[in-house]
Amino acid sequence: MQFGTKSGNPAKTRCQCIIAGIYENNKLSDTAKQLDRASGGYIRKMLNRGELKGKPGQSLILHDVPDITAPRVLLVGLGNIDTADPARFVQVANAAVSALRGTPAKSALCCLLDVAAGDKDAYWKTRRIVERFEDGVYKFTDMKGKPPENNGIVIESVDLQIADRSEQELVEAGIDDAAAVSAGINAHKNLANTPGNVCTPTYMAEAARSLAKQYPSVTTTVIEEKEMEKLGMGAFMSVTRGSDQPGKLIVMQYKGAKPKDQPYVLVGKGISFDTGGISLKPGAAMHEMIYDMCGAASVFGTITTVAMQELPINVVGVIAAAENMPSGKASRPGDIVKSLSGQTIEILNTDAEGRLVLCDALTFVDRYKPVTVIDIATLTGAAVIALGSPATAMYANDDALAGELTGAGEDTLDRVWRMPLWEEYQSQLNSSFADMQNIGGREAGSVTAACFLSRFTKKYRWAHLDIAGSAFRGSGANKGATGRPVGLLTQYLMNMADAETGA
Ligand code: BES
Ligand code: MN
Ligand code: ZN
Repeated sequence: MQFGTKSGNPAKTRCQCIIAGIYENNKLSDTAKQLDRASGGYIRKMLNRGELKGKPGQSLILHDVPDITAPRVLLVGLGNIDTADPARFVQVANAAVSALRGTPAKSALCCLLDVAAGDKDAYWKTRRIVERFEDGVYKFTDMKGKPPENNGIVIESVDLQIADRSEQELVEAGIDDAAAVSAGINAHKNLANTPGNVCTPTYMAEAARSLAKQYPSVTTTVIEEKEMEKLGMGAFMSVTRGSDQPGKLIVMQYKGAKPKDQPYVLVGKGISFDTGGISLKPGAAMHEMIYDMCGAASVFGTITTVAMQELPINVVGVIAAAENMPSGKASRPGDIVKSLSGQTIEILNTDAEGRLVLCDALTFVDRYKPVTVIDIATLTGAAVIALGSPATAMYANDDALAGELTGAGEDTLDRVWRMPLWEEYQSQLNSSFADMQNIGGREAGSVTAACFLSRFTKKYRWAHLDIAGSAFRGSGANKGATGRPVGLLTQYLMNMADAETGA
Protein backbone atom coordinates (compact mmCIF):
# COMPACT_ATOMS: atom_id res chain seq x y z
CA MET A 1 0.00 0.00 0.00
CA GLN A 2 1.21 3.51 -0.82
CA PHE A 3 0.63 6.22 1.79
CA GLY A 4 0.66 9.96 1.15
CA THR A 5 -0.83 13.19 2.44
CA LYS A 6 -3.58 15.54 1.23
CA SER A 7 -4.91 18.81 2.57
CA GLY A 8 -7.61 20.03 0.19
CA ASN A 9 -11.36 19.95 0.70
CA PRO A 10 -12.29 16.31 1.41
CA ALA A 11 -15.71 16.76 -0.18
CA LYS A 12 -14.00 17.57 -3.47
CA THR A 13 -11.13 15.07 -3.23
CA ARG A 14 -10.95 12.47 -5.99
CA CYS A 15 -10.59 9.01 -4.46
CA GLN A 16 -12.72 5.91 -4.18
CA CYS A 17 -13.51 6.14 -0.47
CA ILE A 18 -13.41 8.84 2.22
CA ILE A 19 -12.98 7.67 5.80
CA ALA A 20 -14.27 9.91 8.60
CA GLY A 21 -15.18 9.45 12.28
CA ILE A 22 -18.40 9.83 14.27
CA TYR A 23 -18.41 10.07 18.08
CA GLU A 24 -21.25 8.74 20.20
CA ASN A 25 -24.33 10.91 20.75
CA ASN A 26 -24.27 12.16 17.16
CA LYS A 27 -21.09 14.20 17.67
CA LEU A 28 -19.30 14.62 14.36
CA SER A 29 -15.54 14.78 13.87
CA ASP A 30 -14.33 17.92 12.06
CA THR A 31 -14.14 16.07 8.75
CA ALA A 32 -17.60 14.55 9.19
CA LYS A 33 -18.93 18.08 9.82
CA GLN A 34 -17.31 19.29 6.59
CA LEU A 35 -18.81 16.40 4.64
CA ASP A 36 -22.19 16.98 6.27
CA ARG A 37 -22.22 20.64 5.29
CA ALA A 38 -21.13 19.90 1.73
CA SER A 39 -23.83 17.26 1.36
CA GLY A 40 -26.61 19.49 2.70
CA GLY A 41 -26.99 17.62 6.00
CA TYR A 42 -27.01 14.10 4.55
CA ILE A 43 -24.65 12.67 7.18
CA ARG A 44 -26.67 14.02 10.13
CA LYS A 45 -29.82 12.69 8.50
CA MET A 46 -28.33 9.18 8.48
CA LEU A 47 -27.24 9.50 12.11
CA ASN A 48 -30.65 10.78 13.17
CA ARG A 49 -32.16 7.74 11.49
CA GLY A 50 -29.98 5.62 13.79
CA GLU A 51 -27.88 4.09 10.99
CA LEU A 52 -24.72 4.50 13.12
CA LYS A 53 -24.44 4.95 16.87
CA GLY A 54 -20.78 5.94 16.92
CA LYS A 55 -19.72 3.04 19.11
CA PRO A 56 -16.03 2.15 18.71
CA GLY A 57 -15.60 -0.65 16.18
CA GLN A 58 -18.84 0.19 14.32
CA SER A 59 -18.82 1.36 10.73
CA LEU A 60 -21.21 2.39 7.97
CA ILE A 61 -20.60 2.77 4.26
CA LEU A 62 -22.60 5.44 2.43
CA HIS A 63 -22.73 5.45 -1.36
CA ASP A 64 -23.07 8.42 -3.73
CA VAL A 65 -23.51 11.00 -0.98
CA PRO A 66 -24.87 14.25 -2.55
CA ASP A 67 -22.12 16.68 -3.60
CA ILE A 68 -19.28 14.48 -2.38
CA THR A 69 -16.89 13.64 -5.22
CA ALA A 70 -15.83 10.25 -3.81
CA PRO A 71 -18.36 7.47 -4.51
CA ARG A 72 -18.11 6.09 -0.95
CA VAL A 73 -18.00 7.60 2.52
CA LEU A 74 -16.94 5.18 5.23
CA LEU A 75 -18.04 6.41 8.66
CA VAL A 76 -16.36 4.79 11.65
CA GLY A 77 -17.57 4.93 15.26
CA LEU A 78 -15.22 6.70 17.67
CA GLY A 79 -16.96 6.13 21.02
CA ASN A 80 -17.46 8.79 23.66
CA ILE A 81 -15.43 11.91 22.90
CA ASP A 82 -14.72 12.53 26.61
CA THR A 83 -12.99 9.19 27.12
CA ALA A 84 -11.07 8.99 23.82
CA ASP A 85 -7.70 7.33 24.51
CA PRO A 86 -4.81 5.80 22.52
CA ALA A 87 -6.03 2.18 22.74
CA ARG A 88 -9.43 3.27 21.38
CA PHE A 89 -7.72 5.04 18.48
CA VAL A 90 -6.08 1.75 17.49
CA GLN A 91 -9.44 -0.02 17.73
CA VAL A 92 -10.94 2.61 15.41
CA ALA A 93 -8.13 2.21 12.88
CA ASN A 94 -8.67 -1.56 12.94
CA ALA A 95 -12.40 -1.13 12.30
CA ALA A 96 -11.71 1.32 9.48
CA VAL A 97 -9.39 -0.99 7.58
CA SER A 98 -11.60 -4.00 8.12
CA ALA A 99 -14.59 -2.12 6.60
CA LEU A 100 -12.43 -0.71 3.80
CA ARG A 101 -11.26 -4.22 2.94
CA GLY A 102 -14.86 -5.18 2.25
CA THR A 103 -15.15 -2.57 -0.54
CA PRO A 104 -13.66 -2.63 -4.04
CA ALA A 105 -12.02 0.78 -3.42
CA LYS A 106 -8.45 1.05 -4.75
CA SER A 107 -7.78 4.45 -3.23
CA ALA A 108 -8.91 6.12 -0.03
CA LEU A 109 -8.66 9.41 1.82
CA CYS A 110 -8.30 8.67 5.52
CA CYS A 111 -9.52 11.58 7.65
CA LEU A 112 -8.82 10.20 11.11
CA LEU A 113 -6.01 12.52 12.17
CA ASP A 114 -8.68 14.84 13.54
CA VAL A 115 -9.76 12.14 16.01
CA ALA A 116 -8.81 12.57 19.67
CA ALA A 117 -6.36 10.01 21.13
CA GLY A 118 -5.50 11.27 24.61
CA ASP A 119 -2.38 13.46 24.38
CA LYS A 120 -1.00 11.73 21.28
CA ASP A 121 0.27 13.89 18.39
CA ALA A 122 -0.05 13.58 14.62
CA TYR A 123 3.16 11.50 14.36
CA TRP A 124 1.78 8.89 16.75
CA LYS A 125 -1.65 8.81 15.07
CA THR A 126 -0.03 8.43 11.65
CA ARG A 127 2.12 5.54 12.89
CA ARG A 128 -0.94 3.74 14.23
CA ILE A 129 -3.13 4.35 11.17
CA VAL A 130 -0.51 3.16 8.70
CA GLU A 131 0.56 0.18 10.82
CA ARG A 132 -3.02 -0.94 11.51
CA PHE A 133 -3.95 -0.55 7.84
CA GLU A 134 -0.92 -2.60 6.73
CA ASP A 135 -1.80 -5.24 9.33
CA GLY A 136 -5.44 -5.26 8.27
CA VAL A 137 -4.79 -6.02 4.61
CA TYR A 138 -2.05 -8.60 5.21
CA LYS A 139 -2.70 -12.05 3.78
CA PHE A 140 -0.37 -15.04 3.61
CA THR A 141 -0.76 -16.43 0.12
CA ASP A 142 2.72 -17.88 -0.63
CA MET A 143 1.42 -21.43 -0.23
CA LYS A 144 -1.57 -21.11 -2.56
CA GLY A 145 -1.29 -23.02 -5.83
CA LYS A 146 -1.79 -19.76 -7.69
CA PRO A 147 -1.01 -16.85 -5.35
CA PRO A 148 -3.35 -13.95 -6.23
CA GLU A 149 -1.87 -10.80 -7.69
CA ASN A 150 -0.62 -8.41 -4.99
CA ASN A 151 -1.57 -11.03 -2.35
CA GLY A 152 -5.23 -10.36 -3.08
CA ILE A 153 -4.96 -6.81 -1.70
CA VAL A 154 -7.34 -4.48 -3.57
CA ILE A 155 -6.55 -1.14 -1.93
CA GLU A 156 -3.49 0.46 -3.53
CA SER A 157 -3.14 3.90 -2.00
CA VAL A 158 -4.29 5.72 1.11
CA ASP A 159 -3.80 9.45 1.64
CA LEU A 160 -3.94 10.93 5.11
CA GLN A 161 -5.94 14.13 5.33
CA ILE A 162 -3.99 16.86 7.12
CA ALA A 163 -6.20 19.51 8.69
CA ASP A 164 -3.42 21.56 10.21
CA ARG A 165 -0.48 22.54 7.92
CA SER A 166 1.92 22.49 10.87
CA GLU A 167 1.45 18.72 11.07
CA GLN A 168 2.82 18.00 7.60
CA GLU A 169 6.33 17.04 8.75
CA LEU A 170 5.12 14.89 11.63
CA VAL A 171 2.77 12.98 9.36
CA GLU A 172 5.44 12.42 6.70
CA ALA A 173 7.89 11.14 9.34
CA GLY A 174 5.14 8.90 10.71
CA ILE A 175 4.45 7.43 7.29
CA ASP A 176 8.16 6.67 6.71
CA ASP A 177 8.68 5.03 10.11
CA ALA A 178 5.41 3.09 9.91
CA ALA A 179 6.31 1.78 6.44
CA ALA A 180 9.63 0.45 7.74
CA VAL A 181 8.05 -1.07 10.85
CA SER A 182 5.28 -2.65 8.77
CA ALA A 183 7.85 -4.15 6.39
CA GLY A 184 9.53 -5.77 9.40
CA ILE A 185 6.20 -6.99 10.75
CA ASN A 186 5.28 -8.47 7.37
CA ALA A 187 8.69 -10.15 7.15
CA HIS A 188 7.98 -11.69 10.58
CA LYS A 189 4.52 -12.87 9.50
CA ASN A 190 5.70 -14.37 6.22
CA LEU A 191 8.52 -16.30 7.85
CA ALA A 192 6.37 -17.46 10.78
CA ASN A 193 3.37 -18.50 8.66
CA THR A 194 5.56 -20.62 6.38
CA PRO A 195 5.01 -24.21 7.54
CA GLY A 196 7.57 -26.50 9.14
CA ASN A 197 8.22 -28.58 6.03
CA VAL A 198 9.39 -25.46 4.21
CA CYS A 199 10.61 -23.10 6.94
CA THR A 200 13.42 -25.29 8.28
CA PRO A 201 16.54 -23.98 10.07
CA THR A 202 18.25 -24.02 6.64
CA TYR A 203 15.43 -21.90 5.19
CA MET A 204 15.77 -19.38 8.02
CA ALA A 205 19.52 -19.19 7.37
CA GLU A 206 18.83 -18.53 3.68
CA ALA A 207 16.34 -15.79 4.59
CA ALA A 208 19.01 -14.16 6.79
CA ARG A 209 21.54 -14.43 3.98
CA SER A 210 19.24 -12.80 1.45
CA LEU A 211 18.52 -9.98 3.92
CA ALA A 212 22.27 -9.34 4.03
CA LYS A 213 22.34 -9.30 0.21
CA GLN A 214 19.57 -6.72 0.21
CA TYR A 215 21.17 -4.43 2.82
CA PRO A 216 24.96 -3.85 2.77
CA SER A 217 24.65 -2.71 6.41
CA VAL A 218 23.74 -6.30 7.37
CA THR A 219 26.23 -9.20 7.51
CA THR A 220 24.98 -12.74 8.05
CA THR A 221 27.11 -15.60 9.33
CA VAL A 222 25.82 -19.10 10.04
CA ILE A 223 27.38 -21.39 12.60
CA GLU A 224 26.88 -25.04 11.66
CA GLU A 225 26.40 -28.04 13.97
CA LYS A 226 29.98 -29.20 13.61
CA GLU A 227 31.28 -25.91 14.94
CA MET A 228 28.64 -25.76 17.69
CA GLU A 229 29.73 -29.20 18.81
CA LYS A 230 33.34 -27.98 18.91
CA LEU A 231 32.38 -24.84 20.83
CA GLY A 232 30.70 -27.04 23.46
CA MET A 233 27.06 -26.16 22.88
CA GLY A 234 25.80 -29.38 24.45
CA ALA A 235 22.39 -27.96 25.31
CA PHE A 236 21.64 -26.75 21.78
CA MET A 237 22.99 -30.00 20.31
CA SER A 238 20.78 -32.10 22.58
CA VAL A 239 17.74 -30.64 20.82
CA THR A 240 18.91 -30.54 17.21
CA ARG A 241 20.44 -34.04 17.28
CA GLY A 242 17.02 -35.73 17.09
CA SER A 243 16.18 -34.11 13.76
CA ASP A 244 17.28 -34.84 10.20
CA GLN A 245 17.24 -31.07 9.62
CA PRO A 246 20.61 -29.56 10.58
CA GLY A 247 20.40 -26.90 13.30
CA LYS A 248 21.89 -23.46 12.70
CA LEU A 249 23.04 -20.57 14.84
CA ILE A 250 22.28 -17.62 12.59
CA VAL A 251 23.98 -14.29 13.29
CA MET A 252 22.81 -11.10 11.56
CA GLN A 253 25.00 -8.11 12.31
CA TYR A 254 23.61 -4.68 11.51
CA LYS A 255 26.16 -1.86 11.52
CA GLY A 256 24.73 1.65 11.75
CA ALA A 257 27.28 3.12 14.19
CA LYS A 258 31.07 3.03 14.58
CA PRO A 259 32.48 -0.52 14.38
CA LYS A 260 33.62 -0.46 18.00
CA ASP A 261 30.31 0.84 19.41
CA GLN A 262 28.70 -1.82 21.61
CA PRO A 263 25.69 -3.48 20.02
CA TYR A 264 22.16 -4.16 21.14
CA VAL A 265 21.68 -7.92 20.93
CA LEU A 266 18.48 -9.81 20.12
CA VAL A 267 18.24 -13.60 20.48
CA GLY A 268 15.28 -15.46 19.00
CA LYS A 269 13.99 -18.97 19.65
CA GLY A 270 13.82 -20.59 16.22
CA ILE A 271 12.30 -24.04 16.70
CA SER A 272 11.08 -24.66 13.14
CA PHE A 273 8.68 -27.28 14.50
CA ASP A 274 8.20 -28.47 18.07
CA THR A 275 6.83 -32.00 18.34
CA GLY A 276 7.94 -32.13 21.97
CA GLY A 277 10.57 -34.73 21.10
CA ILE A 278 10.42 -38.02 23.06
CA SER A 279 8.13 -36.17 25.54
CA LEU A 280 5.78 -36.00 22.55
CA LYS A 281 3.03 -33.37 22.50
CA PRO A 282 -0.64 -34.40 22.16
CA GLY A 283 -1.82 -34.39 18.54
CA ALA A 284 -4.81 -32.05 18.55
CA ALA A 285 -3.06 -28.67 18.48
CA MET A 286 0.43 -29.80 17.53
CA HIS A 287 0.20 -28.09 14.14
CA GLU A 288 0.36 -24.75 16.00
CA MET A 289 4.00 -25.50 16.69
CA ILE A 290 4.95 -24.24 13.23
CA TYR A 291 4.88 -20.95 15.18
CA ASP A 292 7.60 -22.04 17.58
CA MET A 293 10.03 -19.92 15.58
CA CYS A 294 8.16 -16.62 16.17
CA GLY A 295 11.05 -15.41 18.33
CA ALA A 296 13.35 -15.95 15.35
CA ALA A 297 10.84 -14.21 13.07
CA SER A 298 10.80 -11.26 15.49
CA VAL A 299 14.57 -10.93 15.28
CA PHE A 300 14.45 -11.21 11.48
CA GLY A 301 11.66 -8.62 11.23
CA THR A 302 13.35 -6.21 13.62
CA ILE A 303 16.67 -6.34 11.76
CA THR A 304 14.73 -5.72 8.52
CA THR A 305 13.15 -2.55 9.93
CA VAL A 306 16.36 -1.28 11.53
CA ALA A 307 18.23 -1.74 8.23
CA MET A 308 15.49 0.09 6.30
CA GLN A 309 15.58 2.96 8.78
CA GLU A 310 19.39 3.04 8.88
CA LEU A 311 19.31 3.54 12.65
CA PRO A 312 22.64 4.94 13.95
CA ILE A 313 23.31 2.04 16.32
CA ASN A 314 24.78 -1.46 16.06
CA VAL A 315 22.46 -4.43 16.44
CA VAL A 316 23.27 -8.14 16.48
CA GLY A 317 20.38 -10.50 15.80
CA VAL A 318 20.94 -14.16 16.69
CA ILE A 319 18.58 -16.99 15.80
CA ALA A 320 18.86 -20.36 17.52
CA ALA A 321 17.32 -22.53 14.81
CA ALA A 322 16.57 -26.23 15.28
CA GLU A 323 13.77 -28.74 14.91
CA ASN A 324 12.53 -30.70 17.95
CA MET A 325 11.85 -34.26 16.78
CA PRO A 326 11.61 -37.71 18.34
CA SER A 327 14.04 -40.20 16.79
CA GLY A 328 16.68 -42.76 17.63
CA LYS A 329 19.12 -39.89 18.10
CA ALA A 330 16.80 -37.73 20.16
CA SER A 331 17.45 -36.86 23.80
CA ARG A 332 15.76 -39.06 26.40
CA PRO A 333 14.10 -37.77 29.55
CA GLY A 334 16.76 -38.12 32.23
CA ASP A 335 19.70 -37.32 29.93
CA ILE A 336 22.27 -34.91 31.33
CA VAL A 337 24.11 -32.52 29.01
CA LYS A 338 26.76 -29.84 29.40
CA SER A 339 25.91 -26.33 28.21
CA LEU A 340 28.35 -23.87 26.64
CA SER A 341 28.52 -22.10 30.01
CA GLY A 342 29.90 -25.26 31.61
CA GLN A 343 26.77 -25.75 33.70
CA THR A 344 25.14 -29.19 33.37
CA ILE A 345 21.43 -29.73 32.72
CA GLU A 346 19.22 -32.71 33.50
CA ILE A 347 16.63 -32.93 30.71
CA LEU A 348 13.52 -34.17 32.50
CA ASN A 349 11.21 -33.15 29.67
CA THR A 350 12.37 -32.93 26.06
CA ASP A 351 9.45 -30.58 25.34
CA ALA A 352 11.18 -27.86 27.37
CA GLU A 353 13.57 -27.46 24.42
CA GLY A 354 13.38 -23.70 23.88
CA ARG A 355 15.40 -22.93 26.99
CA LEU A 356 17.99 -25.52 25.91
CA VAL A 357 18.72 -23.90 22.56
CA LEU A 358 18.47 -20.40 24.05
CA CYS A 359 20.83 -20.94 26.97
CA ASP A 360 23.74 -21.73 24.67
CA ALA A 361 22.89 -18.83 22.35
CA LEU A 362 22.72 -16.50 25.38
CA THR A 363 26.16 -17.65 26.55
CA PHE A 364 27.48 -17.25 23.00
CA VAL A 365 26.39 -13.59 22.65
CA ASP A 366 28.51 -12.45 25.59
CA ARG A 367 31.36 -12.18 23.06
CA TYR A 368 29.70 -9.11 21.52
CA LYS A 369 29.99 -7.11 24.78
CA PRO A 370 26.34 -6.09 24.38
CA VAL A 371 24.70 -2.90 25.72
CA THR A 372 21.63 -5.06 26.38
CA VAL A 373 20.46 -8.54 25.38
CA ILE A 374 16.79 -9.27 24.73
CA ASP A 375 15.65 -12.79 23.99
CA ILE A 376 12.30 -13.44 22.35
CA ALA A 377 10.68 -16.88 22.59
CA THR A 378 7.41 -18.80 22.37
CA LEU A 379 8.70 -20.42 25.51
CA THR A 380 5.81 -21.65 27.65
CA GLY A 381 2.14 -22.53 27.50
CA ALA A 382 2.07 -21.16 31.06
CA ALA A 383 2.64 -17.61 29.72
CA VAL A 384 -0.56 -18.00 27.66
CA ILE A 385 -2.47 -19.11 30.76
CA ALA A 386 -1.10 -16.22 32.83
CA LEU A 387 -1.59 -13.30 30.43
CA GLY A 388 -3.45 -14.50 27.33
CA SER A 389 -2.72 -12.69 24.08
CA PRO A 390 -2.85 -8.96 25.02
CA ALA A 391 0.44 -8.88 26.91
CA THR A 392 3.87 -10.37 26.26
CA ALA A 393 5.38 -11.71 29.50
CA MET A 394 8.57 -9.77 30.28
CA TYR A 395 11.37 -10.67 32.67
CA ALA A 396 14.48 -8.58 33.27
CA ASN A 397 17.57 -8.49 35.47
CA ASP A 398 17.74 -4.70 35.05
CA ASP A 399 15.05 -2.20 36.09
CA ALA A 400 16.06 0.46 33.57
CA LEU A 401 15.79 -1.98 30.67
CA ALA A 402 12.44 -3.23 31.98
CA GLY A 403 11.24 0.38 32.13
CA GLU A 404 12.42 1.12 28.60
CA LEU A 405 10.62 -1.93 27.22
CA THR A 406 7.46 -1.17 29.19
CA GLY A 407 7.49 2.38 27.83
CA ALA A 408 8.03 1.30 24.22
CA GLY A 409 5.19 -1.20 24.67
CA GLU A 410 2.78 1.39 26.04
CA ASP A 411 3.66 3.79 23.24
CA THR A 412 3.15 1.30 20.40
CA LEU A 413 0.44 -0.65 22.28
CA ASP A 414 2.52 -3.77 21.57
CA ARG A 415 2.53 -4.25 25.30
CA VAL A 416 4.55 -6.21 27.84
CA TRP A 417 3.82 -7.00 31.48
CA ARG A 418 6.68 -7.53 33.88
CA MET A 419 6.81 -10.82 35.76
CA PRO A 420 9.00 -11.71 38.78
CA LEU A 421 12.44 -13.31 38.65
CA TRP A 422 12.69 -13.73 42.40
CA GLU A 423 15.28 -15.98 43.99
CA GLU A 424 12.49 -18.00 45.67
CA TYR A 425 11.52 -19.54 42.32
CA GLN A 426 15.03 -20.75 41.51
CA SER A 427 14.88 -23.79 43.80
CA GLN A 428 12.21 -25.32 41.58
CA LEU A 429 15.06 -26.01 39.15
CA ASN A 430 17.22 -27.94 41.63
CA SER A 431 18.43 -31.23 40.18
CA SER A 432 19.56 -34.37 42.00
CA PHE A 433 22.50 -35.04 39.71
CA ALA A 434 23.15 -32.00 37.49
CA ASP A 435 23.58 -28.27 38.13
CA MET A 436 19.92 -27.75 37.22
CA GLN A 437 16.97 -29.50 35.61
CA ASN A 438 15.16 -28.14 32.57
CA ILE A 439 11.67 -28.01 34.10
CA GLY A 440 10.37 -26.50 37.34
CA GLY A 441 7.08 -28.30 37.89
CA ARG A 442 3.49 -27.23 37.37
CA GLU A 443 3.57 -23.98 39.32
CA ALA A 444 4.70 -20.70 37.72
CA GLY A 445 5.85 -22.38 34.53
CA SER A 446 6.64 -19.18 32.66
CA VAL A 447 8.60 -17.84 35.66
CA THR A 448 10.73 -20.95 36.13
CA ALA A 449 11.54 -21.00 32.40
CA ALA A 450 12.78 -17.42 32.76
CA CYS A 451 14.70 -18.40 35.91
CA PHE A 452 16.41 -21.11 33.90
CA LEU A 453 17.56 -18.54 31.31
CA SER A 454 18.64 -16.09 34.03
CA ARG A 455 21.40 -18.53 35.00
CA PHE A 456 23.06 -17.88 31.63
CA THR A 457 22.68 -14.09 31.46
CA LYS A 458 24.49 -12.81 34.52
CA LYS A 459 27.17 -10.92 32.60
CA TYR A 460 24.96 -8.31 30.93
CA ARG A 461 21.71 -6.32 31.13
CA TRP A 462 19.08 -8.77 29.93
CA ALA A 463 15.35 -9.08 29.29
CA HIS A 464 13.35 -12.13 28.26
CA LEU A 465 10.08 -11.85 26.33
CA ASP A 466 7.81 -14.90 26.45
CA ILE A 467 5.62 -14.35 23.39
CA ALA A 468 3.76 -17.70 23.44
CA GLY A 469 0.45 -15.83 23.81
CA SER A 470 1.04 -12.68 21.78
CA ALA A 471 2.93 -13.79 18.65
CA PHE A 472 0.35 -15.89 16.83
CA ARG A 473 -3.20 -17.18 16.62
CA GLY A 474 -2.79 -20.91 16.10
CA SER A 475 -6.18 -21.66 14.60
CA GLY A 476 -9.54 -20.13 13.68
CA ALA A 477 -10.60 -17.65 11.02
CA ASN A 478 -7.92 -15.24 12.18
CA LYS A 479 -5.13 -17.80 12.18
CA GLY A 480 -1.68 -16.41 11.65
CA ALA A 481 1.37 -14.67 13.06
CA THR A 482 0.69 -11.24 14.59
CA GLY A 483 4.13 -9.78 13.90
CA ARG A 484 4.54 -9.07 17.61
CA PRO A 485 6.77 -7.94 19.20
CA VAL A 486 8.47 -6.31 16.18
CA GLY A 487 6.56 -3.07 16.92
CA LEU A 488 7.85 -3.05 20.49
CA LEU A 489 11.45 -3.98 19.65
CA THR A 490 11.82 -1.49 16.81
CA GLN A 491 10.39 1.27 19.04
CA TYR A 492 12.85 0.35 21.80
CA LEU A 493 15.76 0.54 19.33
CA MET A 494 14.50 3.82 17.81
CA ASN A 495 14.30 5.26 21.32
CA MET A 496 17.84 4.07 22.08
CA ALA A 497 19.11 5.55 18.82
CA ASP A 498 17.42 8.87 19.65
CA ALA A 499 18.94 8.86 23.13
CA GLU A 500 22.44 8.13 21.80
CA THR A 501 22.32 10.82 19.13
CA GLY A 502 20.55 13.29 21.41
CA ALA A 503 17.65 13.62 18.96
N1 BES B 1 6.84 -24.19 22.34
C1 BES B 1 6.33 -24.65 23.58
C2 BES B 1 5.53 -23.58 24.32
C3 BES B 1 4.25 -23.13 23.69
C4 BES B 1 3.06 -23.77 23.98
C5 BES B 1 4.22 -22.03 22.86
C6 BES B 1 1.88 -23.32 23.42
C7 BES B 1 3.05 -21.59 22.29
C8 BES B 1 1.87 -22.23 22.58
C9 BES B 1 7.48 -25.07 24.48
O1 BES B 1 8.57 -25.61 23.84
C10 BES B 1 6.94 -26.10 25.40
O2 BES B 1 6.60 -27.15 24.95
N2 BES B 1 6.88 -25.77 26.68
C11 BES B 1 6.37 -26.67 27.67
C12 BES B 1 7.27 -26.58 28.86
C13 BES B 1 7.01 -27.64 29.88
C14 BES B 1 7.38 -29.00 29.33
C15 BES B 1 7.81 -27.34 31.13
C16 BES B 1 4.96 -26.20 28.02
O3 BES B 1 4.71 -25.00 28.05
O4 BES B 1 4.12 -27.06 28.24
MN1 MN C 1 8.39 -27.69 23.53
ZN1 ZN D 1 8.88 -25.07 21.90
